[in-house]
Amino acid sequence: MNDKLFSSRVQPETPSRLEGLFPVMDFDDAITFTAGAPAENLFPMNEMKQAYIDAIDNEGAHTFQYHTIAGPVELRERLAERATRKMGIENVGAENVMLTAGGQQGIDLITKLLIDKGDAIVVEAPTYVGALSTFDMYEPTYYEVELQSDGMDMDQLEETVKQHPEIKLVYTVADFHNPGGVTMSLAKRKRLVELANQYDFMVLEDTPYRDLRYVGESLPSIKSFDTEDRVILLSSFSKILMPTLRTGWLVASKKIIKQLYKLKEAADLEVPNITASAINQFLAKNDLDKHIDKLIDVYKERRVAMANAIEKYLPEEVTATCPDGGFFTWVTVPDVINTTDLLYNKVTPEGHIAYVPSKNFYAYKDKTNGMRLNFTGLSSEQIDDGMKRLGGILKSELSKSLVENN
Ligand SMILES: Cc1ncc(COP(=O)(O)O)c(C=O)c1O
Repeated sequence: MNDKLFSSRVQPETPSRLEGLFPVMDFDDAITFTAGAPAENLFPMNEMKQAYIDAIDNEGAHTFQYHTIAGPVELRERLAERATRKMGIENVGAENVMLTAGGQQGIDLITKLLIDKGDAIVVEAPTYVGALSTFDMYEPTYYEVELQSDGMDMDQLEETVKQHPEIKLVYTVADFHNPGGVTMSLAKRKRLVELANQYDFMVLEDTPYRDLRYVGESLPSIKSFDTEDRVILLSSFSKILMPTLRTGWLVASKKIIKQLYKLKEAADLEVPNITASAINQFLAKNDLDKHIDKLIDVYKERRVAMANAIEKYLPEEVTATCPDGGFFTWVTVPDVINTTDLLYNKVTPEGHIAYVPSKNFYAYKDKTNGMRLNFTGLSSEQIDDGMKRLGGILKSELSKSLVENN
């Protein structure tokens, strides 16, 4: 087949953004900080097994029939109630909730809804690599706005939208950023909505980690300040239940959801009814918040282990975020170190550890001095051991570069 037959969005010579992100390690003492996956031993196996049985018992053969695009109304009602109770979003009903094949499909459909080739999107720098891989497919023009310790730099955003009034969409991971680990402040959430109204753009608030807060009080969602239906909030069951449910959900106006249904129909018709019904049964019989509390208890300790290990082992030239929740810490190293080269030449072959290097978290893949470290998938002992090895390698690389530069 001639490559010319591929569409421009595929570009066969360009690797996928996810390619090479997770190096394979075949060592007995391997420790990997790469995971974006929740801890498997915390999956509510018995409860979910029962929920699938209940779903089938309730609906019989019809469970496996084609269903409507909207999916079970009871499930959407539960999620609408959750959006009010946990996210501060008022006046939301089942008709404002749409089920998607994971948050990832939500990102895809929302991009398809808003972005034609060349249209302008603002992303945080760094940002979620999976969102970039979706956006890439729509061939947008990217504008990057720096991520600060309290979220996106709003002054820089304002400058950017002033200079580029054509910007249509701002994508943000406001709670426990992937990969940055930071959370957007209350003031910035309000300002983002004000800017959206003033400069006429949409906001995608992608918040799969929101429930996993280990310290401090939960902040209202950006969507809760939305006055002109400009914010679409996207959430998911992947991090709080199980990723293979492939079930995400978004909150938006009926006008937006009507158009999104058109796009979902064209893509894959509907979410699998067996899964949606099983989740509904799970939520009917179990207290999701209690389950989340169990996750928090475990992840909280691992976060402390990570913070302690950073303090103990990383050289002082290195900075790291201290997340209030979520899965990730972001580490910034001096520019003399290229974290992709370091990973493949030293950290994995010699240290038998792995992290995700920064390059692919940037729209233009041009920043090579960062790394994303997951702390939820490892025991406190593994975190300590792995960070000790990472710290040792970073120290020796930094002193080598000092000698070379003198
Ligand atoms: C910020 C963010 N958005 C969306 C997703 C997609 O998750 P899923 O499709 O499993 O719901 C992830 C997964 O890692 C994520 O970190």
